[in-house]
Amino acid sequence: MVAYKFVLMALGLFAMTASTSAGVVSARTHLTHELSKRGCNADCEGDSCINKCKASGVQKDFIDVCRDGTCYCGFAAYDEALAVWMLKQTAAFNQAKLIRTRDPARLAECSVVVDVGGVYDPTKHKYDHHQRGFAETFDAQHHTKLSSAGLVYKHFGREVIRRLVGADTKHLDTIYNKTYNGFIESLDAHDNGISAYPSNLTPLFKQTPTHLPARVAQKNPAWNETFSDTEIDASCGELAQYIHTLVSSWLPARTLVVEALARRHQVHPSGRVIALDRNCPWKEHLMELENEHNTSILYVLYPESSSSGNWRIQCVPTRPEGFENRKGLPEAWRGFQDQELCRISTIDDCIFVHAGGFIGGNKTRHGVYEMARLALDA
Ligand SMILES: *[C@@H]1O[C@H](CO)[C@@H](O)[C@H](O)[C@H]1NC(C)=O
Ligand SMILES: *[C@@H]1O[C@H](CO)[C@@H](O)[C@H](O)[C@H]1NC(C)=O
Ligand SMILES: *[C@@H]1O[C@H](CO)[C@@H](O)[C@H](O)[C@H]1NC(C)=O
Ligand SMILES: *[C@@H]1O[C@H](CO)[C@@H](O)[C@H](O)[C@H]1NC(C)=O
Repeated sequence: MVAYKFVLMALGLFAMTASTSAGVVSARTHLTHELSKRGCNADCEGDSCINKCKASGVQKDFIDVCRDGTCYCGFAAYDEALAVWMLKQTAAFNQAKLIRTRDPARLAECSVVVDVGGVYDPTKHKYDHHQRGFAETFDAQHHTKLSSAGLVYKHFGREVIRRLVGADTKHLDTIYNKTYNGFIESLDAHDNGISAYPSNLTPLFKQTPTHLPARVAQKNPAWNETFSDTEIDASCGELAQYIHTLVSSWLPARTLVVEALARRHQVHPSGRVIALDRNCPWKEHLMELENEHNTSILYVLYPESSSSGNWRIQCVPTRPEGFENRKGLPEAWRGFQDQELCRISTIDDCIFVHAGGFIGGNKTRHGVYEMARLALDA
């Protein structure tokens, strides 16, 4: 992670407007790659980095930087690739020709400049985030400094979403917020070297090696190989996929949660248990809707997705992404299955209660209801 924090990306998006014919000329697109951590790593002394990079087989228009006496040769980062990809979804820049440069004279000719140039000025379409004093965040509620992807998303994200999923203006801001929180922010943090937890905490395990920056890094060619645009396009496609899934799956699930909340007192007189007609992504919707209803649900019952007819009881976590529950299933039930669980819980047809106490199963809806009823009183 440290290695690519240092990278100064040399990218300019250059929309070349022909003075006589209409519009913008589309030309060779050079999408870019993360600076390879396997870069030249040659000593910067003497020969310039650019020559060292060339000598080591890296094509000359790729990045070369000298940091702390080490010469890095390689490619640009996923945040830049994603920024360019998003710009290419917009009406203003979909025909833009991409060039890579740090030459101020050429940057001055570009109609939009991303990740280079030392200026953030959306009125002039300058979107760099490396300059000293840069502290832009998504909005006042967010504290993560933006990367070039975050900057472009902040200014063009709504247009990109409309382009991808149609102009459903009713939910546009919900999708816009959710995509920032669920997808872009972690990239901003990663690019800016911001940890997801305080530095005095040691993570209990390593982050999954398949998060987006790691996947892009994996797809990177080695420093002495050439690259192709399709590789980077594939990783950017994940953003499109994420947004499509929000619209086709996550958003419609809200209706099921609304209905289940309205019926909560029929499920249990306490009003703290809901039963969904089908399993669906319910956590965030529930937490938002609870405020409107001034309520706090403890257990969610739903049929398994399979055709088994079995039901699940799941505890509502204290936060959507966490495993800590508002009220876990009784300790005595945890980690048991079938008959043994039925005996301990005095409930028939029990299937399992997870050792973590956050989910359990029963063959029937009545069974999970009984589990909820006893757990409420436990
Ligand atoms: C989007 O998030 C902002 C704060 O980050 C909030 O003010 C706004 O109401 C949210 N909009 C929707 C539709 O969720
Ligand atoms: C890159 O360098 C390694 C080590 O010298 C070599 O084995 C490999 O074939 C090179 N790859 C290309 C594409 O030249
Ligand atoms: C919300 O619920 C709490 C606890 O049941 C209650 O004390 C409070 O008065 C409620 N607030 C409103 C606005 O209904
Ligand atoms: C489900 O719960 C019901 C009601 O308590 C109980 O009779 C039944 O044995 C349980 N079934 C399973 C498979 O857990």
